[in-house]
Amino acid sequence: SEDRFVKIVEVSPRDGLQNEKNVVSVETKVELIRRLQEAGAACIEAGSFVSPKWVPQMADTAAVLSSMPIKPGVSYPVLVPNARGLEDLLALLSKADSTQPPLTDEIAIFTAATESFTKRNTNVSIAESIDRLARVTEQALARGLKVRGYISVVAGCPYEGAVDPQVVGSISKQLFDMGCYEVSLGDTVGVGHPASMLAVLEACAKYNPPALHAAHCHDTFGTGLANVLAMVKAGVKTVDAAVGGLGGCPYSPGATGNIDTESVIYALHQEGYETGYDLIKTAEAGEWIAKAVGKENNSRAGKALLAK
Ligand code: HMG
Ligand code: MG
Repeated sequence: SEDRFVKIVEVSPRDGLQNEKNVVSVETKVELIRRLQEAGAACIEAGSFVSPKWVPQMADTAAVLSSMPIKPGVSYPVLVPNARGLEDLLALLSKADSTQPPLTDEIAIFTAATESFTKRNTNVSIAESIDRLARVTEQALARGLKVRGYISVVAGCPYEGAVDPQVVGSISKQLFDMGCYEVSLGDTVGVGHPASMLAVLEACAKYNPPALHAAHCHDTFGTGLANVLAMVKAGVKTVDAAVGGLGGCPYSPGATGNIDTESVIYALHQEGYETGYDLIKTAEAGEWIAKAVGKENNSRAGKALLAK
C-alpha cells in the first residue's frame, strides 16, 4: 500500500562509481543501469555534470545518458553543481530525439553543512553555494526539470568534526525555499548513528516534514542500515542506496560507499515495507558491478543471498 512504500534512489552509477580510480567504461555504466532497471529500480542517479578536473570518472555522463536504455516510469536524475553543468545538460536534452521520452526530468544540486567541506567539494562558501544553487534551481524549474537537494556531512565532517543539527535544518529550509521537492540528508563519512540522524531530521522537520527528506547514509562505521531504518520509522519515505555498497569518499580515508541496496530492501521487506525491487536480481547486479570494477562485493545481504 501507498504508506508502506519506500522509494529507493539507486545511486551506484554516480556516488558508487565517482571515486573509482580506474576508468569505468560507458558500456559498463550503461549495463549497470540496465541491470538496476531489471531489478526494479525506479529512480537511478545516472551521473553528474560536474567539472572533469574535479571528478574525472563522471566526465562521460552525457554519453551514458545518450546510450542507456530508457525504461518508462524510471527517472534518471543527474548532479549539477553550477550554471555550466545545467547548460551542458540542457544542450544534451535539446539534441535528443523529441519523439522519445526525455533522457531525464530531474537534477540534483548539492551543498554541505560545513564551510570546509563545501569549499573542498565545490570551491565556495556555504552562502555562495546557496546563492549559486538558487540560480541553477530557478533555471532548471523554468525548463521543466525537478530539483532535488543534497546536504553533505550532516552528522559530522572530516575537517570540522561535530555538526550542529540546527545548521542542517536551516540549509534544508533554504533548499526547499529555492524550489527543491526533496532534500537528501547525507552522512557523507558515515559517522552518524540513529540518535544523531534523528536529531538532524528533527531540526529539518521544524520547517518541512520528514516525508520530504531522504536518508543518504554511507556505511563507514557499520551504522548505515540502523540509520536508514530509524529514519524510515520516523517518517522518511526515500532512501538512497548503492548496490554492492559501492563507493568511497576522496576526502575521508577509510570511508566506504553508501549503504548497500540489498540490505536496505531485505530489511524493509522483512519489516513490511515495499520498494518495488526484486531482491535476488538486485544482489546479482551488486555482485556483477563489484566484479566489473574489480572490487569486493560489500553487501553482506547480497553475499548471503547468492551463497551456494
Ligand atoms: P571551480 O574550479 O571553482 O570552477 O570548480 P571554475 O568555474 O573555475 O571551473 C574550473 C574548470 O572546470 C574550467 O575549465 C571550467 O570550464 C570547468 P578550464 O577553463 O580550467 O579548462 N567546469 C566544468 N566542466 C564541466 N562541467 C561543469 C563545469 N564547471 C566548471 N559543470 C565546481 C567549481 C563546482 C565546478 C567544482 O568544484 C566541481 O565540479 N565540483 C563537483 C564535486 C563533486 O562532484 N563531488 C561529488 C558529488 S557530491 C557528493 O558526492 C555528496 C553526496 O553523495 C551526498 C553525501 O554523501 O554527502 C551527493
Ligand atoms: Mg554520497
